[in-house]
Amino acid sequence: MRVLALLDGTLADPEAPLFRADDLGVMRGDGCFETILVVDRKPRELGPHLDRMERSARLLQMRLPERAAWERAGQAVIDAWPWDSEPEMALKLVCTRGIDGGDGTPHGFAMGMDVGSDTKRKRDSGVEVVTLDRGYAPDLMDRAPWLLLSAKTLSYAVNMAALREAESRGADDVIFTASEGTVLEGPTSTVVLAQGRKLLTTPPASGVLAGTTQGALFRAAEQAGWETEVVDFPTSALFESDGVWLASSIRRLTQVRAINGTSVKADDALHTEVVGLYESNY
Ligand SMILES: Cc1ncc(COP(=O)(O)O)c(C=O)c1O
Repeated sequence: MRVLALLDGTLADPEAPLFRADDLGVMRGDGCFETILVVDRKPRELGPHLDRMERSARLLQMRLPERAAWERAGQAVIDAWPWDSEPEMALKLVCTRGIDGGDGTPHGFAMGMDVGSDTKRKRDSGVEVVTLDRGYAPDLMDRAPWLLLSAKTLSYAVNMAALREAESRGADDVIFTASEGTVLEGPTSTVVLAQGRKLLTTPPASGVLAGTTQGALFRAAEQAGWETEVVDFPTSALFESDGVWLASSIRRLTQVRAINGTSVKADDALHTEVVGLYESNY
């Protein structure tokens, strides 16, 4: 299922070509995007997603259409979505730098997609992951801003390659590690740990994307009296914690059950409690 809207709020045929062959998004993956969960017509964390898209565009030094255009296009998709049969939707906002050699006018669209059965199954059953080296030190972000670490760019080929590597090793997903062994993030998720009544995640300053799902979880957890900490931690902490999750808008909170073939603590009651904290936002 696909519903496509242009930034003027008009609907378009999702099966018809939309971009020119010389668009820089097509030719170089040059642009930024967001993926937002919409449940029963209500987008989750829309403001933080739009803030992050503006930040990505700033890091890319590209123009971004005004916020109202994204809100208009997103609403057009929401209004056209078949909510009775599909109560959840992944809303993608995509923006490219525009035509190669053009005047820098960005090109964008909003598209609604259904949430795959595989993603839903993993939310319930959990996942086995492998750790893969991302090949950079946590302080690289400051030293090399041109690498666009922490921006959500359209260049996700490396992230997708890592997921194929996990699959070839018989795992479902990946946790990237920095060159000195600290934990970064998943290719499409934030890593969250529980240690007693404390939740931990890696700081965006180490080059990871600031997750809106992790942000929502930590907000609710703090209100419920949990401690939260945003700090670098070693891979060994994954094995010593009371729970490990991959957090992202569409997967929500997916529990990690094993890492590199070794089981980690995955308590059902704690999982239910952590998911309940996140859901209490909505
Ligand atoms: C690299 C990366 N990290 C983290 C996340 C989680 O972000 P969010 O919770 O805002 O969806 C994503 C989402 O796709 C991602 O691609």
